[in-house]
Amino acid sequence: MASWADEISAIIEKNIADFGGNEIETASVGTVVAVSDGIARVYGLQDVKYLELVEFPRTGIMGLAFNLEEETVSCPILGDYTHIREDDEVRTTGRVISVPVGDALIGRVVNPLGEPIDDRGPIVTDKTRPVERVAPGVITRKSVDTPVQTGIKAIDSMIPIGRGQRELIIGDRQTGKSAIAIDTIINQKGKDLICIYVAIGQRNSTVARTREILEQYGAMEHTIIVDAGASDPAPLKYLAPYSGCAMGEEFMESGRDALIIYDDLSKHAEAYRNISLIIRRPPGREAYPGDVLFV
Ligand SMILES: Nc1ncnc2c1ncn2[C@@H]1O[C@H](COP(=O)(O)OP(=O)(O)OP(=O)(O)O)[C@@H](O)[C@H]1O
Ligand SMILES: [Mg+2]
Repeated sequence: MASWADEISAIIEKNIADFGGNEIETASVGTVVAVSDGIARVYGLQDVKYLELVEFPRTGIMGLAFNLEEETVSCPILGDYTHIREDDEVRTTGRVISVPVGDALIGRVVNPLGEPIDDRGPIVTDKTRPVERVAPGVITRKSVDTPVQTGIKAIDSMIPIGRGQRELIIGDRQTGKSAIAIDTIINQKGKDLICIYVAIGQRNSTVARTREILEQYGAMEHTIIVDAGASDPAPLKYLAPYSGCAMGEEFMESGRDALIIYDDLSKHAEAYRNISLIIRRPPGREAYPGDVLFV
């Protein structure tokens, strides 16, 4: 009888010892209840934050806690959603989505998560910035006093563009909108203005050609290309302008100037509408991300 009790207490003691030795981590764990068109509906992530990265550990794919609903969380999947299945485990990461920033990105082509897609090795930087943050108020902004020379005489003489200003380029398709943007980047050589070209929903061949042109004119030395291609999932296209903006803001806050080109925002709006419809946000005008165009 005594030996039996001894054995039990030995087991308990061993368990306690093992428990102490284990590393303890906390993560909220949920389960995928449905996947459709790049969005996973996840049940059980009680303490997830808005725009927090979530991980699907079975595949290593990341997602974004995008719509916090009463029972579930809708997570756009930042990767190939065909690998995600119902009943997959989902873990919170505690990190709000952010991208690497700083000088290490200059000359590189990255995806909207800041991962290199140009076969030139990893990006070595320990600086990151959240993709979504409150923009500085109008009062704190300085008035425009320095021009951005596009190098196109008609524009620079008649409708000059300043640093700190936004300019919308609109026009029918194939009328040279992108050409203006690329010419402007090329014209910034040696002018102390870092350019960020955000290509949204373009064919890979088009972006490759743009990069070739920039390299040919030595303009990649002051340029970052953020590329969310036509075949990339909608969440990545949605994210692209925000990541480009975060990279630009880092330069701005370190006292340098940056020029960001979003080419083009209609593809971004389309991607957002796509996501909106799946997560049942209203599908009308309000399904478009007005803030990018109007704020
Ligand atoms: N000033 C110009 N003179 C002659 N050809 C031009 C000029 N600017 C651009 N092009 C040519 O016109 C074509 C369309 O240019 P671009 O791709 O810049 O147009 P876009 O408005 O961006 O088109 P999309 O709406 O498809 O994005 C390209 O082949 C380009 O080389
Ligand atoms: Mg274009």
